Amino acid sequence: AGRCVVAVDGPSGSGKSTVSRRLAVGLGARYLDTGAMYRAITWAVLRSGVDLTDAESVGKVAAEVDLRIGTDPEGYGVTADGVGVDAEIRGTEVTGAVSAVAAVPSVRALLVARQRELIAKAGRIVVEGRDIGSVVAPDADLKVYLTASEAARAQRRSAEDATDVAATAADLARRDRLDSTRKADPLQQAADAVVLDTTELGIDEVVDRLRALLTERG
Ligand code: C5P
Repeated sequence: AGRCVVAVDGPSGSGKSTVSRRLAVGLGARYLDTGAMYRAITWAVLRSGVDLTDAESVGKVAAEVDLRIGTDPEGYGVTADGVGVDAEIRGTEVTGAVSAVAAVPSVRALLVARQRELIAKAGRIVVEGRDIGSVVAPDADLKVYLTASEAARAQRRSAEDATDVAATAADLARRDRLDSTRKADPLQQAADAVVLDTTELGIDEVVDRLRALLTERG
């Protein structure tokens, strides 16, 4: 099979990760979690102790860290300077700081270039993030923008993380605001993206619709 790139964007809790992984498994394709890359850089920035508001220092740490990420949809690992950080990048410290780090233009330039390399190498891949259809892979074969009501998104995230719904809702709203209003590559719907509201849809229904769209497009 030839090249096939699927871009999946949307806010946190829209179902992106589960949908993207399942779609990749079904297609026999690779999978790239770009959020995990921003999280791993954030872990390295926190460990370095530099001030999060100092964009130059944050960019310097990002440029120096040896970041590696797998693309197996059934299990990938992330390492930063040789340290496995799969658990750490999901913690509250990293989640609280990641939007600030992801707003630094030099961090984005670095990761967008790495993401393009990984996509070119994989050939067939489902890529999830905030700016995949708009910036990273504007020539993707299918662009999807997943949304869901704020309540549904908070519900899902708090079930995944076993955290309080109200606190999760506040954190999601804060991150969405930062991710949508930043100057560098904000979360945005690509003009040619298929928009799917997943509030009332099950994971399998969403995956089935995306597979149908891919079949239609040959
Ligand atoms: O998807 P996830 O919640 O893991 O993403 C964590 C954060 O990384 C987002 O809140 C956003 O600030 C940043 N991000 C980004 N661009 C991407 C993927 C994630 O800015 N393509």
